[in-house]
Amino acid sequence: MSDQPIRIFISGACAGLAEARDALAGHRDIELVGTASEPSKAGSKLASTGAQVILHALQRPDSVPTEEIAKIREHTSAPIILLVTRSTSTLLDEAVELGLNDVMLLPQLTDNLVFTVKKAHTIGSMTGSGGAGQRRSGDSCKVITLFSPKGGVGKTVLATSMAAMYAKKLKKRTLLIDLDLQFGDAAIMLGADPRATILDLVMSHGDLDSDKLAGFVTHHESGLHLLPAPLRPEDDALVTDDRLASVLSAAKQSYDIILIDTAPNFTSTVLTALDRTDELMLVASLEATSLKSVKVCLQTLEMLHYPLEKCHVVLNRADTKVGLKKDQVETALGKSIRFGIPSNRAVPMAINRGVPVVMTDPKADVTRAIRELCVAFSPEASSVTEQAASTAKLSRRDRKRIADETQRAQLRDADLAGASAPAPGAAHSPDLDLEFDFGDEAAA
Ligand SMILES: Nc1ncnc2c1ncn2[C@@H]1O[C@H](COP(=O)(O)OP(=O)(O)OP(=O)(O)O)[C@@H](O)[C@H]1O
Ligand SMILES: [Mg+2]
Repeated sequence: MSDQPIRIFISGACAGLAEARDALAGHRDIELVGTASEPSKAGSKLASTGAQVILHALQRPDSVPTEEIAKIREHTSAPIILLVTRSTSTLLDEAVELGLNDVMLLPQLTDNLVFTVKKAHTIGSMTGSGGAGQRRSGDSCKVITLFSPKGGVGKTVLATSMAAMYAKKLKKRTLLIDLDLQFGDAAIMLGADPRATILDLVMSHGDLDSDKLAGFVTHHESGLHLLPAPLRPEDDALVTDDRLASVLSAAKQSYDIILIDTAPNFTSTVLTALDRTDELMLVASLEATSLKSVKVCLQTLEMLHYPLEKCHVVLNRADTKVGLKKDQVETALGKSIRFGIPSNRAVPMAINRGVPVVMTDPKADVTRAIRELCVAFSPEASSVTEQAASTAKLSRRDRKRIADETQRAQLRDADLAGASAPAPGAAHSPDLDLEFDFGDEAAA
């Protein structure tokens, strides 16, 4: 069990509730993560709080308001305690029948309140109904990783925007993990004030389960949960592959969608994430160096026996007039491109405000394109491939060797001004064979 405070959410209203709320909120073992006096409004708030125990107060304790409870249940399977000022045997029977955890009479001593919350939480944890939201098998969670061996192509813009879209508009329990462990800036782009980072989580004592995870994520106003990168670049090595694997399996129990933003390098951290990824988005821009990186990346993944059906090239700033067209890029990469994201001034403006563009400009073309991307990859959409992604067929050493080799080739290629002149002898320098068309577009 975690040593973090238990996150509670209080809904409804009744006499004595304000005193109970203040007493609980002031207790060191409890964290009050939200309140909603109108039960109909509790749902949308609940979705983003990761509450572990719900206290629902009844104005009229004659019977259990089944509709109100059903509304809460739509958003969480956390234990529910009813708070009432008087109780009847009918009420108790109904509460048992509905699977509620307890009925408490107010007023109560603070210790009694805390004890009941702890008891509900413990039983909830044992039966799998507590946690950051609905606890689940992990099978229906989708892990989407955004990667590109080239920096500055829009991985973080897309990761943060997609996460906000999934959480706010598509109502998915969404976790964004910033695996750009040295220079991650997802928190800045979201204007978030992190309560902890992934480093704090992996360095914490004890089992790394979904309860513990819930105590370390930062809640964003869109409803997404964020696990930010460490604050200091030199701490990246402390996030070991084994601990990261535990973070991911714990997260799969609590979320519908996990988005992983990455650094522009083929590190073992990235490989660990790839092994647990359902859909890999290779973010590219319409520049020869970026396309070359994507091609190198696809070749490397092939060497790692990674199922290429899971790899999707997402062309960011796809409408930029730079003499290259999508079909030329498809031919050069040998891969079709289903998703293009337009360039829009709203993106850097949103970054400067610390708000994802999908929230600042809900009607912009870039927001529409991001929404389409999210819908296509949402957990209920039929997967592009059901095959399990795994680079595990290769030994750890081989994986590292291939990744290092690729990175070296990548560095050699990084300074190339044009794709038509690959570095001689570069192990994975692909022949892009691009034809540029600077006709009318360049002037536009
Ligand atoms: N669709 C877009 N329209 C306009 N500008 C964009 C768009 N996507 C990204 N940008 C701009 O590109 C810059 C780089 O984006 P971002 O930080 O997401 O790249 P990155 O791939 O995460 O980079 P790094 O590898 O360094 O982490 C952003 O600051 C933003 O201004
Ligand atoms: Mg980035």
